[in-house]
Amino acid sequence: MKSEFCLIGPITQLVSLSGLPERGPVKDEEIQPLAQAGLLLKGNKIYKTGVYQELKKQAEAVGAALVELDQDYVCLPGFVDAHTHICFGGSRANDYAMRNSGKTYLEISEAGGGIWDTVQQTRKASAHELEVLTLARASRHLSEGVTTIEVKSGYGLSTQEELKMLRVIQAVNSQTPADLVATCLAAHTLPRDISGNHAAYLQEMAAQLLPVILEEKLSRRVDAFVEKGAFSAEDISPYFKKAQEMGFDITVHADQFSSAGSAVAVAFGALSADHLEASTQQDIDRLAQSKVIAVALPGASIGLGCGFTPARKMLDAGLSLAIASDWNPGSAPMGDLLAQAAILGTFEKLSNAEVLSGITFRAAQALNLHDRGKLEEGFLADFVLFAAKDYKEILYQQGKLKPAKVFKGGVLFK
Ligand code: NIG
Ligand code: FE
Repeated sequence: MKSEFCLIGPITQLVSLSGLPERGPVKDEEIQPLAQAGLLLKGNKIYKTGVYQELKKQAEAVGAALVELDQDYVCLPGFVDAHTHICFGGSRANDYAMRNSGKTYLEISEAGGGIWDTVQQTRKASAHELEVLTLARASRHLSEGVTTIEVKSGYGLSTQEELKMLRVIQAVNSQTPADLVATCLAAHTLPRDISGNHAAYLQEMAAQLLPVILEEKLSRRVDAFVEKGAFSAEDISPYFKKAQEMGFDITVHADQFSSAGSAVAVAFGALSADHLEASTQQDIDRLAQSKVIAVALPGASIGLGCGFTPARKMLDAGLSLAIASDWNPGSAPMGDLLAQAAILGTFEKLSNAEVLSGITFRAAQALNLHDRGKLEEGFLADFVLFAAKDYKEILYQQGKLKPAKVFKGGVLFK
């Protein structure tokens, strides 16, 4: 009978991130890479990590398959992207060009751009077309080392169209080796084709949409864009309250352009508050007193050409900081998590350890997943191998060094 064990190595540097703190600053000295290491897997999980030559004896005793590496590799946990909108139709290249030629948000919107444009393109796409587009983006992410991908709805903005998106995300999850974590973002913006106000729309979503999501097990997470022009704290509170009563976890698009959403995130005990580019010191202090994870989205800062989330201040205040791509057609079209995280590191003076924690185990926690993001016994065997001798090469090359091999649940996909 084939053994369920498998040994991989020798690995020049194994960066397990084991033992790193869940929140606050982290120094590179705390990383302690293991040289000439091995990873002994059992099924889709990590059974043991250690020095390759020592693990080899143990592996032979249990008849493990051997995957012998014949060049230098640095091994890291698979990356976790805790915030994306990769299920969408169309393109907003026109918005991007207009914005870069100085046009305002209002002018772009009047020219037919903005979120509403993507809503129309996404509604127009058939479920099959959306599946093909979403799967292609998930596959690109996986090949770049992202083994867990959160994906939001939010371009449907009606019960039927939001369900279409969430069913597409569920279907794509069964087609890709990556784990997709779906989030309902029906509260993205008020759809233009209804006559009711914000409160009426959210009431309808809570009454009509959320129960079906639970019934079909499409998602356990509810997100909202709390911002001027989207939803106010007053609009969103009854909706979040109902969602929470139904058992949904809460996450918030917060403080993107103005300080607003992070206080809501804290009040509801959200898993995460994402964006936070406009957070004030008071917001940061409030977040630091809570368990809410701060998710920086450098891709949106790069896409819109505006400032970065004050990540350094947040870490120094003791927050847990995750870094996600926000991959979406409007504000963050690039979708390269590693490049964006590296760039945030240079602007915010983050250590390698802080950036890598932010795209692995701290990001997993933002998704309430506690079985991934570190390479230790019992964790999922999700890991990436970079052709390098020193882990510091990875962020130094600012995203240009891509993983040579990607393993999801112990299976090699690249
Ligand atoms: O996370 N801030 C709101 N939502 C998205 C942008 C969506 C879009 O422009 O299509 C974001 O940046
Ligand atoms: Fe977003």
